[in-house]
Amino acid sequence: MIEDCFILTKDDRKRIRRNFAEALIAKMEGEASSLKCLPSFLPRPSGTECGDYLALDFGGSNVRAMTVRLANGQADILRMKKMSLRRVGSLDYTSGDVEAKDLFGIIADLILAVVPDQKTVALGHTFSFPAEQLSVGEARLIKWTKEFAVKGVVGEKVNRLLAEAFARRGTDSVRPVAIINDTVGTLLASAYRAPDTTIGSICGTGHNTAAVLPDGMIYNLESGNFDGLPVTEYDLALDQMSLAPNEQRLEKMSAGHYLGKIVTLAAADKLDCLRAGAELTGEDLGLILNDGGQSLRTADLIERRTGTRISQSDCAFLRRLTRAVVARSAQMVACTYLGILDVIDPSHTEHHTIAVDGSLFGKMPMYAKEVERVLAEGLADVEATADLVWAGDGSGIGGAVAAALAETHRGERREYRTFAESMVALYGSKGEA
Ligand code: BGC
Repeated sequence: MIEDCFILTKDDRKRIRRNFAEALIAKMEGEASSLKCLPSFLPRPSGTECGDYLALDFGGSNVRAMTVRLANGQADILRMKKMSLRRVGSLDYTSGDVEAKDLFGIIADLILAVVPDQKTVALGHTFSFPAEQLSVGEARLIKWTKEFAVKGVVGEKVNRLLAEAFARRGTDSVRPVAIINDTVGTLLASAYRAPDTTIGSICGTGHNTAAVLPDGMIYNLESGNFDGLPVTEYDLALDQMSLAPNEQRLEKMSAGHYLGKIVTLAAADKLDCLRAGAELTGEDLGLILNDGGQSLRTADLIERRTGTRISQSDCAFLRRLTRAVVARSAQMVACTYLGILDVIDPSHTEHHTIAVDGSLFGKMPMYAKEVERVLAEGLADVEATADLVWAGDGSGIGGAVAAALAETHRGERREYRTFAESMVALYGSKGEA
């Protein structure tokens, strides 16, 4: 049966976990790896950072600007404005026709709408794309993901593009002092109240994870690019149809932007009506999973999308397939968390908080439970325990925490242990692991 190809066995899960740990260690030792491990130059917060900060959450589907009040482990959003980012008016951010200054102009206006009157405020920018961190305050975009294609941003300093947009508007009330990945933001927001947070992750439109590595710094692993996974013919087909083939393999098998496409491709082998270009979205998958016994809403949905009404047994097939694709995503993600724990806590003795933000984790039926189940399965025989926590708004609040950290430690040079030193601290001399 078609859906069976998406089912992972316990051995598959063990292999993914091991492959991920090996990819992480390879990166830490300076060898070739599908992980990027980009340094954030930030440690975890102490929880005592205080004050009002601006945060910009520039994610996949939406962009949000907010003012956040930080007070001893408690973060409150005072004001927030949000807009959708796929298409704004006639601008289509996936078309390749939009220029950097249009994009950052729109974002600067959104931020100015939440700036408190007459105040100059420090801003933490959560930028949810792979970026090479130059300092806490600046990063260069390595490549667009999630099918974004705005011109003039790849290779550029992202906070400079934002600062230029403010300069064009004649204002200096916003000081962009930090730029972080959304996974780093999620980790920071959670660690602000739960100091044992060691992993921050996004399961939403895109997928990626950050972790506190043994040198004490938070790294953006860009784990969406991990490639040590068993693939199906449908994953290969989807990859070839995407804007950047051969890249972001884990993300294309696990993130909300792609799950509907995988289900559509696989279902089209059985259901002719899905062959003609209609495509299911992540929300559609949620509806299919939540549908009741007679699958009436699923049949209505497919009829709306394709003009064809499918039978109850075809609806049941679609539901089994959707379950398999969604469960596979959750299981793969959980295996990557286990792989990280194997590296950062090799004796498996500590307690870890794993913070997750993103619509897939927050809204997709059964998703969070499945991640939790596989985590528990993987830690069943060891002392270490992990709490999987929902960090809603984490990526945005994390921007404010990053701004606070940047302000608190301004001018300081923080020394992190080198990877090599951390490896020795963890495993003894190299190779003994
Ligand atoms: C990006 C990551 C980001 C993730 C979640 C991916 O496409 O490469 O940088 O963290 O999406 O938003």
